[in-house]
Amino acid sequence: MNALILNGSPRKNGNTSHALRAIADGLARNHAVETLNVYDFKFLPCRNCDACRRNGGNCIQADDTVRIINKITNADLVVFGSPVYWWGISAQLKDVVDKFYSREGESAPTLRTKKKIGIVAVGAETTDDPEYKLISDQFRCIASFLGWEVVLDEAISAAAVDDLAKDAARLAALTETAAKL
Ligand SMILES: Cc1cc2nc3c(=O)[nH]c(=O)nc-3n(C[C@H](O)[C@H](O)[C@H](O)COP(=O)(O)O)c2cc1C
Repeated sequence: MNALILNGSPRKNGNTSHALRAIADGLARNHAVETLNVYDFKFLPCRNCDACRRNGGNCIQADDTVRIINKITNADLVVFGSPVYWWGISAQLKDVVDKFYSREGESAPTLRTKKKIGIVAVGAETTDDPEYKLISDQFRCIASFLGWEVVLDEAISAAAVDDLAKDAARLAALTETAAKL
């Protein structure tokens, strides 16, 4: 499988990045893996101009939308990783998700292909906080709408920037979980 990991955290050495690296290590045992830091790309928010509905599915804004949405379209497995920001995903990752809209027109290359997805949410609160379920439910609704299968769903509590880096057991567990996908 072609696995694509999207890192919605702006902190390249923060908790989400560590979690996603551990997951990438596990996935790499069986799949080709590419990780993209969303923060490195330019994503202008969707304007609902509907130009994409008239031009075959391509956002017309001068940014990296088409490049990244094409990668998502072509991946068999996509892992969406985000820090929890105000009970939701980061704005950076949400800007990517909003652009799924560009592939919903009739003549667009569809995102509705057999695809597996993973959800990784990293927040400072303990994992009994509703924020993790809110994020999981958001992606589960999207997956249900697009016909995708959720195969990984990780809620991770880590507050300080290096909390997860210090938790070798948790990182190893993430790697082993991903290796089974
Ligand atoms: C703008 C902002 C909003 C945040 N909101 C929440 C929140 O609602 N719940 C929570 O548990 N942590 C919240 N946090 C803390 C981060 O989720 C937490 O520090 C996480 O480990 C950051 O992940 P990162 O190191 O991958 O960037 C917030 C942090 C920022 C910067």
